[in-house]
Amino acid sequence: MSRIYNFNAGPAAIPLEVLETAQAELLDFNGTGMSIMEASHRGKAYEAVHNEAIANLRELLGISEDYAVLLLQGGASTQFSMVPMNLLLPGETADYTNSGSWGSKAIKEAKKVGNVNVAADCGKEIPTRVPRVSELKLTAGAKYLHVTSNETISGARWNEYPDVDCPIVADMSSDILSRPFDMSRFGLIYAGAQKNLGPSGLTLVVVRKDLAEGAPENLPTMMRYKTHIEENSLYNTPPCFSIYILMLVTRWVKKIGRDNLYKQNVDKAAKLYAAIDGSGGWYKGTAVKEFRSDMNVTFRLPSEDLEAKFAAEATKAGFNGLKGHRSVGGIRASIYNAVPVKAIDDLVAFMNQFKASNG
Ligand SMILES: Cc1ncc(COP(=O)(O)O)c(C=O)c1O
Repeated sequence: MSRIYNFNAGPAAIPLEVLETAQAELLDFNGTGMSIMEASHRGKAYEAVHNEAIANLRELLGISEDYAVLLLQGGASTQFSMVPMNLLLPGETADYTNSGSWGSKAIKEAKKVGNVNVAADCGKEIPTRVPRVSELKLTAGAKYLHVTSNETISGARWNEYPDVDCPIVADMSSDILSRPFDMSRFGLIYAGAQKNLGPSGLTLVVVRKDLAEGAPENLPTMMRYKTHIEENSLYNTPPCFSIYILMLVTRWVKKIGRDNLYKQNVDKAAKLYAAIDGSGGWYKGTAVKEFRSDMNVTFRLPSEDLEAKFAAEATKAGFNGLKGHRSVGGIRASIYNAVPVKAIDDLVAFMNQFKASNG
């Protein structure tokens, strides 16, 4: 068996240890004589998995009892709609920031539901970045402010959040559980699981319970946060296997130590950015330096032909998923929690060698 270095943006690398545990438990989970995929979501075996995943997330992300932790389906994309459906009532306005592809999709969906003010828009700027706090044109009495904490495609992220009177809502799909943040500053956060949390098919939503209370009564049952809060995300059949992997991933993070992992993420990204910045301009970072993401390191080569050659040779050398998103081109190394330090070191060596041969 040979495993490649996985730099995919999502679905993405899952810790090897987690995969090995899942493999070992696949045919007989905890003496049940069946896999967790085959167990009833109302049974004791699954219930323990479900509740441990939630408890571990509460501990790792510092989530108080004022918030509900929801394990939903539909991806982060469904949250683009569910957030305004639940929080934005007729006559109210929500402030949104556009920092790129994902921010603009969130705005597009919110506009279908209610009044949206785009408080800052740098979605199409190159080099890429997210808005500065000083640029925000906020609405007095806004219901919430929406941010995309890390733009997965452009590789730019928020470093500081504004002090606002309304709750902040954040799409944390690509940086959840990768760096510190203060949950109490947010009214709601959401994330597709397929980057730092586990497999796709599962979406984490953490919502302040009082905010969820205010949703319109006529919302479809499945679209209401309150439904899922009341039923502990078991109103209908949850994505049991994805939640099981999430549980194993959170155990893995606890074992390594959350803060150790956060520090490792900073170091990993710094090594790649040092290789880019030390190349004499041959490799060029895509994002404005102060907004560079530690999760999605994006860069360009002197020509598109060289980028294609880089991606092809990298694949041959065992580095998978480095081609930039189809909408922007370039190169993107997604270096989520589960991407080992060795993968970064070897990628840096590959980059140096590629430049020596082609520069
Ligand atoms: C920041 C961000 N938001 C939203 C999404 C959409 O997530 P999903 O595919 O789970 O709907 C993605 C997917 O990559 C993302 O990176």
